[in-house]
Amino acid sequence: MLAALPVAEPDPLWALINAFRQDRRADKIDLVVGVYRDASGQTPVMQAVQEAEANLASAAVSKSYRALSGNLAFNDGMSRLLLGEGAEALDRQCTIQTVGGTGALRILADFIAFASPQATIWNTNPGYVNHRPIMTAAGLNVRTFRWQENEAGLDLDAVVADLREARAGDVVLLHGCCHNPTGIDPAPEQWRRLAMLCKDKGLIPLIDMAYQGFGDGTEADAAGLRHFAGQIDTVLVAASCSKNMGLYCERTGAAMVIAPDRDMLANIRATLERITRANYSMPPEHGAAIAAHLFESPEMWLSELETSRRRVAEIRHGLAEALVRCSAPEKFQALRRQKGMFSLLPLDQRQMSRLREDFGVYGTANGRINIAGLLPRDIERLAEALRVVSCAPPLVYAARATA
Ligand SMILES: Cc1ncc(COP(=O)(O)O)c(C=O)c1O
Repeated sequence: MLAALPVAEPDPLWALINAFRQDRRADKIDLVVGVYRDASGQTPVMQAVQEAEANLASAAVSKSYRALSGNLAFNDGMSRLLLGEGAEALDRQCTIQTVGGTGALRILADFIAFASPQATIWNTNPGYVNHRPIMTAAGLNVRTFRWQENEAGLDLDAVVADLREARAGDVVLLHGCCHNPTGIDPAPEQWRRLAMLCKDKGLIPLIDMAYQGFGDGTEADAAGLRHFAGQIDTVLVAASCSKNMGLYCERTGAAMVIAPDRDMLANIRATLERITRANYSMPPEHGAAIAAHLFESPEMWLSELETSRRRVAEIRHGLAEALVRCSAPEKFQALRRQKGMFSLLPLDQRQMSRLREDFGVYGTANGRINIAGLLPRDIERLAEALRVVSCAPPLVYAARATA
């Protein structure tokens, strides 16, 4: 068996993370890892989370097995966070706790493969690096549609043109907010047009909500999803608590299926539980129990999340200003209007290598940088490095010029 094992390439993101760790330069800058960092470079445990953990420790609740759907209070809280208090769709949805947002995506991929194996998953291009592997691991066919900017923001004409070939029953994978890797989010009117497109063509939206609270706030960031839930009778949602609660390693997330009819919910739940049962039976309790505490009295958590959100927005603004000051090309100014933790730099693979080799600045090969990982003290240096790399002539001409 092992002799026939196909060679597996190391994960490119983790290869970069390891290269950064081995880099001995004191002034290196890590913009690869998708985690929030505060002004001192730490990824802190939120105060609200620490208090919830202290409560849980003193309550010493039994560690006996939980339900297959996970922590029920968590599931209830997540459905309200996503859909909003009093939403009509709350009555026709089923939410289960999952192993992070990744687990939610995989459970939903298996669910789609179970219910509709011929459905094509339409994925944004560029898109989140793990969407395609998750969908293909479940045996699903993946195609892409362009996700790019024009002067007005998201280029919706490109989306509509590329989805022309999508057939009724296909699934469109959208990012609820803070698109990873581009930071390009639809404007409210564009969400409406996207929902109309799905409705007219009979497409099923799968909305990946991994950054709720990091764009414009928890409510505003869910506006697109909530519009879809109000307009379309079948909607799938994958949600993560990794970023907005800082629960990265606790692997806490949720998968939601919104159905046209609440009579369908029992079978949907049974199907979701059948899928989790064959994977890991039930998800781990700790992160979900913390989140359930936060939902009970959310003030402190929401205020800390708002502080993080503002910091990311300030860093974004600060970088855009520094790029103006050092006369970097105008194309970098798109950073200013993009949302959330990530942006895709208008640089090619060679320029990204140069950034890494000459300046110790690590982003991914396709140009993604984690704005939330940038420290205020590094902003000017990063802006200058971007200017140099983007204005430098191609290496072949540079070599000739010095010959
Ligand atoms: C768009 C998107 N979806 C899902 C995930 C996975 O989240 P989690 O770490 O909770 O598995 C991420 C994480 O970076 C993401 O960016």
